[in-house]
Amino acid sequence: MNILVTGGAGYIGSHTSVALLEAGHTVIVADNLCNSKAETLDKVKQITKKEITFYQIDVTDKVSVDSVFSNHHIDGVIHFAGLKAVGESVDNPLAYYYNNIVSTMVLAKACQKYGVRRFVFSSSATVYGDNTVPFAENMNLLPTTNPYGETKAMSERILTDIVKANPTFSVSLLRYFNPVGAHESGLIGEVPIGIPNNLMPYVTQVAKGKLEKLRVFGDDYPTVDGTGVRDYIHVLDLAEGHVAALDNLTEGVHIYNLGTGQGTSVIELVKAFEEANGIKISYEIIDRRPGDIASCYADASKAKQELGWVAKRDVISMCRDSWRFEKNNKE
Ligand code: NAD
Ligand code: UD1
Repeated sequence: MNILVTGGAGYIGSHTSVALLEAGHTVIVADNLCNSKAETLDKVKQITKKEITFYQIDVTDKVSVDSVFSNHHIDGVIHFAGLKAVGESVDNPLAYYYNNIVSTMVLAKACQKYGVRRFVFSSSATVYGDNTVPFAENMNLLPTTNPYGETKAMSERILTDIVKANPTFSVSLLRYFNPVGAHESGLIGEVPIGIPNNLMPYVTQVAKGKLEKLRVFGDDYPTVDGTGVRDYIHVLDLAEGHVAALDNLTEGVHIYNLGTGQGTSVIELVKAFEEANGIKISYEIIDRRPGDIASCYADASKAKQELGWVAKRDVISMCRDSWRFEKNNKE
């Protein structure tokens, strides 16, 4: 199939482009490079030895999006393009609502105009809010604590309503848990701008000596060791989950958790990193981070049953691959 991958130069989009190309699909990337570089697409070509068509466009711009749809026979869209920094979304909500919601509407409208029936959307486990773990797709969603999370919940609702009115439209809403890791070549991975907010990139920068020590946000949660528990998923497993979702997409709205179903605490992740890479990570315990929940992990059974997809890579591989990329990364 010819797949339009919005945000394809980004962290998850680039790994998914590799998986799509390796599965025999043709990839057309639309990205404005606001949080990525065009060289990443060269690395994707180097890994796969296949070509990609690239449009440097903003997918909130309907004229640019229209020209991509009119230049290609597109069979499906995977919509990754979006802003994703939680703290920034609190400071600048309008930028987040505009970018993340308008892009979804512009792309859905182009799909209607050009008869494109397959749409896969990057959602997040954040839409569950502080529910009881494990999170299952049929749970009632709780409010998220920030505008970023709200853009995901709203985009899900918009796409669901579009399907209600157009039953032949096929939408997959993929709720990612915590993506980490990198391609085993060490050529592509996550490059956070400035000081990382997320745990794994923070740990790799401590390992590199760029940051002095990890600050663990709280050790008084009701978890195995008091630190926050998350469902870390290797980005290559996540990428393969997208190919499975696309290949199995049928009419209607389908919601899938993409997680491993395993919770790992902050301290367990630090220990796994030390074991995988033989590097000591200094840390100190500080106060809880506002907005954090104690535990977040998936009930991953629906994706297994309906898509035949399961996450295969363990936490040790996630730590090894994250570190390999950070070592290679000159920034
Ligand atoms: P990323 O920032 O690495 O990739 C997003 C890409 O979209 C970037 O290349 C950026 O330049 C591009 N982009 C942003 N707005 C655009 C626009 N208007 N037009 C064109 N391109 C635009 O982020 P990522 O981690 O790869 O995340 C991809 C998607 O997955 C996002 O929608 C994000 O919200 C969602 N998600 C990510 C995580 C995570 O932990 N990384 C978790 C859950 C959901
Ligand atoms: C965060 C976002 C979430 C987003 C996800 C993936 C918040 C409140 N939530 O989730 O919306 O979908 O990233 O991008 O920001 N931790 C530390 N020290 C650190 C960093 C993190 O102890 O320096 C802890 C956190 O308290 C948490 C765990 O590590 O328990 C994972 O944190 P993080 O990687 O930021 O992901 P989430 O909080 O799950």
